[in-house]
Amino acid sequence: MIKKIAIGSDHAGFILKSELLEYLRSKDFDVVDCGTYSTESCDYPDYAAIVAEKVSKKQVDAGILICGTGIGVSIAANKVKGIRAANVWNSETAALAKQHNDANIICIGARFIAPYYAKKIIDAYFSSEFEYGNHLHRVEKISKME
Ligand code: RB5
Repeated sequence: MIKKIAIGSDHAGFILKSELLEYLRSKDFDVVDCGTYSTESCDYPDYAAIVAEKVSKKQVDAGILICGTGIGVSIAANKVKGIRAANVWNSETAALAKQHNDANIICIGARFIAPYYAKKIIDAYFSSEFEYGNHLHRVEKISKME
């Protein structure tokens, strides 16, 4: 069961991160805020690396990354061993990222997804389980590529 989460963003995701941080804490998740801490311009790979390392080392159960599109942070996080970071855009893709891909990080594009929908994404992801079955060997094939 997911209890401890790392969350990170660049400047484009800072405001959404602040809102999601409050939302997650209100739902009793233990959340580690990995920055950034303002809207001052910064580089998304730096924050993707911090969150991805924490997930990879199992210091947290899952991660949330936010940038303008969700694309940059997902590309960067997926460079870290053991990471399956999924750029999701609605509750359906968030649920499937867990059910089929066992995604351990979800990425959200703050310039395209309003806070209301980002919360729906979070609810869908954290209430979903990996379905194993035919999906397991596919995820294992991804691990073998590392
Ligand atoms: C920052 O302007 C923007 O490029 C970044 O947030 C992200 O969308 C990159 O993928």
